[in-house]
Amino acid sequence: MVTKIKTIGVMTTGGDAPGMNAAIRAVVRSAIFHNLNVYGIERGWQGLIDGKIIKMDLSSVSSIINRGGTILHTHRCPEFREKVFRKKAFTNLQAFGIDGLVVIGGDGSLNAAYVFYKDFKVPIINIPASIDNDIYGTDYSIGFDTAVNTAVEAIDKIRDTASSHERVFVIEVMGRLNGFIALDVGLVSGAEAILIPEVPYDLASLTKMLQYGQQRGKKSFIIVVAEGAIKAEEVAAYLRKRSELDVRVSVLGHMQRGGAPTALSREVACKLGARAVELLLAGKQALMVGIQSDNIVETPVEIVARRKKKIDLNAYKLAQKLAQ
Ligand code: F6P
Repeated sequence: MVTKIKTIGVMTTGGDAPGMNAAIRAVVRSAIFHNLNVYGIERGWQGLIDGKIIKMDLSSVSSIINRGGTILHTHRCPEFREKVFRKKAFTNLQAFGIDGLVVIGGDGSLNAAYVFYKDFKVPIINIPASIDNDIYGTDYSIGFDTAVNTAVEAIDKIRDTASSHERVFVIEVMGRLNGFIALDVGLVSGAEAILIPEVPYDLASLTKMLQYGQQRGKKSFIIVVAEGAIKAEEVAAYLRKRSELDVRVSVLGHMQRGGAPTALSREVACKLGARAVELLLAGKQALMVGIQSDNIVETPVEIVARRKKKIDLNAYKLAQKLAQ
């Protein structure tokens, strides 16, 4: 029998992502629309362990749809791997009468949520939010589009100086172990080469390609490197040693995690936040909401946790074709 949910909690966990605030707003306002009580849990799982739980109302989420970061703060919480701390978190949930959770975060958060669900059978709906976009079951995770746009804007600027000085720029983008950011950024910024962990690369061929380009009259080059493939500095050192190319490095780093969310990041956040609340009301649990081919879909967290999202190799080939 499904017990009717009366009070929900919402938290953001793991690395922050632009659009998390828009998702918090969507969850809080949808919950209130459906006459639920709603609490914000500060600092993710750590806050649940520490009892950092605050009542949310309509005005707690005013004017945040356009703000990067997360008003609830976030934290990576290794303690949550230990059952004794998860038990503490569960006791706090009970103390506040929270009978459903919305967890906004990346794959680490998702796995933690699943373990918590298995321990205590707390109904949890996950919302994918990570600039890395490496979560199975959704075309977009909240923040990815913003991070891509931020990196592209930076690369457009770098291209100006690369072209003036006739230089090679090796630009490292985030993405942890995956190349989703690098591939999108490389394709739309017209990079001459993209190095991602999912596709084997060879620095000797890269050097030859750049030299051949130079002979054909190309003046500058942009190489986009995923942090999970190789360090930009390593690529630059190799190129400097084996060619006369004038090489510079730019590591974009955490700037990719900040800034106002793009329209797409906000749209995904609004839609998934509202659906997460509807699912809790419908008695669902251990699901992740996502977007697939413009539709809002749900996937069991058990499946999301087990499967690996595949990179779009056609996009990679297209980038190569257009970069000649
Ligand atoms: O998962 C998001 C992400 O920004 C990754 O792209 C990156 O590898 C990592 O987080 C950096 O983590 P931190 O902010 O803890 O250094």
